[in-house]
Amino acid sequence: MTSISRRQALKLGALAGSSLLLPIAFQSRSYAGTAGSPSVTPFTLPFRVPPVLNPVRSDSTTDYYEITMKKALVEILPKLKTEVWAYNGITPGPTIKQNKDRRSVVRFINNSVGTPTSVHLHGMASLPQYDGYAEDLTNPGQYKDYIYPNNRAATLWYHDHAIHKTARNVYMGLAGTYLVQDQEELNLPLPKGDYDVPLLIQDKQFGSKGNLIFDDQGQKSQMGDIILVNGVPWPKMQVANRKYRFRILNGSISRSYQLALSTGEPLIVIGTDAGLISAPVPTSSMRIGMAERYEVIIDFSKYAVGTKIVLRNLQPPNNDNYDNTEKIMQFEVVRTESDPSSIPSTLRYVQPIDEASAVRTREFRYERSNGLWVINGKIWDNQRFDASPQLGDVEIWKIYNNAGGWFHPIHMHLLDMQLLDRNGKPPFAYEKGWKDVFYVGENETLRVIGRFGPNSGTYMSHCHNTVHEDHDMMNQFKVGEATVNLASLAPAQSLPAPPL
Ligand code: C2O
Ligand code: CU
Ligand code: CU
Repeated sequence: MTSISRRQALKLGALAGSSLLLPIAFQSRSYAGTAGSPSVTPFTLPFRVPPVLNPVRSDSTTDYYEITMKKALVEILPKLKTEVWAYNGITPGPTIKQNKDRRSVVRFINNSVGTPTSVHLHGMASLPQYDGYAEDLTNPGQYKDYIYPNNRAATLWYHDHAIHKTARNVYMGLAGTYLVQDQEELNLPLPKGDYDVPLLIQDKQFGSKGNLIFDDQGQKSQMGDIILVNGVPWPKMQVANRKYRFRILNGSISRSYQLALSTGEPLIVIGTDAGLISAPVPTSSMRIGMAERYEVIIDFSKYAVGTKIVLRNLQPPNNDNYDNTEKIMQFEVVRTESDPSSIPSTLRYVQPIDEASAVRTREFRYERSNGLWVINGKIWDNQRFDASPQLGDVEIWKIYNNAGGWFHPIHMHLLDMQLLDRNGKPPFAYEKGWKDVFYVGENETLRVIGRFGPNSGTYMSHCHNTVHEDHDMMNQFKVGEATVNLASLAPAQSLPAPPL
């Protein structure tokens, strides 16, 4: 039997004018084979973590970093070269590891990436002019120094946020991990150092020559048939028979995952988007939408040397499924080691925000209308504010997705919030922590609560299916007064840059 690729199916369907070959748009779609990418055998390529970036200099309060955005040719698929647009020419970009309450200044240089950029450090309460506002652009030939306060320990990521081009730019490679740690967390007996490992999961589609194909299907989604972890297709990681802490980030454009271990053993969740949760939550599987972060412990001590364990994807609804998209990576236990780590029964207390402290409730409908993605019927408008809390106000946001054909991970800049309920029912146990992205699944209504701060000014909120975000499921809110002339407060400068 010949299996046809999705791209061929789309072509044939278009030619025949027939929907028989095509699944109905936006239902769960399964395809035999691949979407046409050159084939890679899962679990043959070695796992790696991105390098940690050293500061170019440090003083008593601040570490200064420099990152150049450029086009580069890298080997992602064996023996093929892929052009990526990448921070320091590698994707994911280098990892920044910082201590809480030290300041970072990161100079992002737009050298040869060939497109305007705006860098957002997702999860950081940056001032508006350093938050990667979509219209605060750094053009080719310019650079911008971003200042980050690092006010709490968490797994963050930096990625491009250029207006209407975010999906393409992130897809082409502009994404990296940023970790903030604090002493309280380091004092816990959790796995540390080499046993504390970032996993940035993405899916991509490649042409026969190794080129990345950005095909956003009529601005609805961009899903690939190849799953990468830290830039490597379905890697195999060699592990010792002990506990590891994994910081899992879904850096995909449109794909969500339902994570589970092939052994049926639980994942032990210890953290959400904004850091550790009150107590560990074992779960047999967990859903992770785009831009969400979950920290999990996997305990390999149960397994004999030689055991292979697959991190699987149980494929939530409304994703395009191919032969190997149900696999993410493989762990192979290759050695015995003593394990000084343990999982404490209390981690970091997450104080629930009292509903009674909310001064108002706002409603946001995320929907599709006339071929666009809209919020309360409206597209992006840099002059309009859809919420104007005062600094310190507690608000409840009621977020609706009244459709069965798609899901929206909704992200608020600036603040961490908590999920009160989903369709009137309690959140999943592993979601009960500080978060900045909330999975609004099919026909779901969520209530989230947060205290607006710590900064005043203009911030964005949007769906983190970045194809939706770009067209045009994004709005902005202001805390206190709007930021006047946001793009001119800390404008990009012309190269060459003076020493940091
Ligand atoms: Cu991770 Cu506004 O984005
Ligand atoms: Cu963000
Ligand atoms: Cu969406």
